[in-house]
Amino acid sequence: MGTRDIAVVLVAAGRGERLGAEKPKAFVELAGRTLISHSLENIVAVANLAQVIVAVPKELIAEANQLVSAHHLTDVSFAVVAGGQTRQESISLALQNLDSQVAVVLVHDAARALAPTELFDRVASRVRETKGAVIPALPVVDTVKRISDDLILETVDRESLVSAQTPQGFLAAELTEVYAAAQAEFTDDAALFQSFGKSVSHIYGTRRAFKITTPEDLTSAELLFGVDVRTGIGTDVHRFTSDPEKPLFLGTVVWPGELGLEGHSDGDAVSHAIVDALLSAAGLGDIGSNFGVDRPEFAGANGSVFLSETLRLIAQHGFQVRNIAVQIIGNRPKVAPHRERVEAALFELIKAPVSLSATTTDGLGFLGNSEGVAAVATALIARPNSSPIDRLGA
Ligand code: CTP
Ligand code: MG
Repeated sequence: MGTRDIAVVLVAAGRGERLGAEKPKAFVELAGRTLISHSLENIVAVANLAQVIVAVPKELIAEANQLVSAHHLTDVSFAVVAGGQTRQESISLALQNLDSQVAVVLVHDAARALAPTELFDRVASRVRETKGAVIPALPVVDTVKRISDDLILETVDRESLVSAQTPQGFLAAELTEVYAAAQAEFTDDAALFQSFGKSVSHIYGTRRAFKITTPEDLTSAELLFGVDVRTGIGTDVHRFTSDPEKPLFLGTVVWPGELGLEGHSDGDAVSHAIVDALLSAAGLGDIGSNFGVDRPEFAGANGSVFLSETLRLIAQHGFQVRNIAVQIIGNRPKVAPHRERVEAALFELIKAPVSLSATTTDGLGFLGNSEGVAAVATALIARPNSSPIDRLGA
């Protein structure tokens, strides 16, 4: 490791008009994390990193500080600053906070949230080798036309064209100088740099550094993560009570005219089997380890109490429920007259399809002689993978 002398300026102060989300673009989530967080994850691994400066909309400085603090590293200084009206102004404001030991600055768009560490490292190395400005760029693959209104004027030779990406790398002294002297607005740092007659070279970029501009871009980015799908199983059994006044609860709702079930809670074997299936799918233990009989707040509790808490827990781990299947095993109660009502109540609560079926045991055992009811449930849950599947290559 050499000395730490690289700063990354992460520009995240845009409004994201074209994305049209509720929040400014850099604060929008992709696969469960904000674009800023994805960018920072790749940036903090950059070799010889000394400083990270993030420019954000003024009213989101506190929120950005929270996001940034999750990535803090010893030996690296972090600053969050208010950006400006334009990208260029945001960078200009960020550069006013540059540490004095920084020799190389990499300017990066938070909108290129999946640009890999490897790209930052390649740009920085090339800046050192050439002692000049370096940008990543990719060949233009489409045939390019010059137009005037709806008329094609000519086909432009694409051999001499590339599309520019970020991070764009500069010697710190040169970049601060051109930003201080800037008279006109440019869409990237290389253009501003060249307006002072200074040369810029390019290296081969990566498709991973594509810019998220529109909702379609965000969807494409989401697809790169793929989905982590999990299945789980749960079983529960409760004994029928001898108290004729006790109502039967299965699937959170009352089954009128049926004998109730015993239990620390309301004996709802269907809800409890679903809770176990969800916890099992998420690898979060079971109903006993999460809602033990030693907890008085669950005494007599309705199945919806356990289900809601379980849904909150698995959502905390990033999971969404895809579907639930439950089977009731026993002679009683007859399920068919209640199926639709129970499925609808559970759908309302779980926000995913729930199917309820039933079977008997051919008269055998405690389920065959109506001593109790058993329920078996399976759950399918899913969340985005934590990093993109390498479908785009380097
Ligand atoms: N940017 C910035 N300050 C601005 C404008 C843009 O820091 N005043 C940043 C954006 O946050 C983004 C990068 O520059 O990371 C590239 O800009 P762009 O993709 O155009 O993002 P937005 O300006 O947010 O989007 P839009 O143009 O659709 O509003
Ligand atoms: Mg913009």
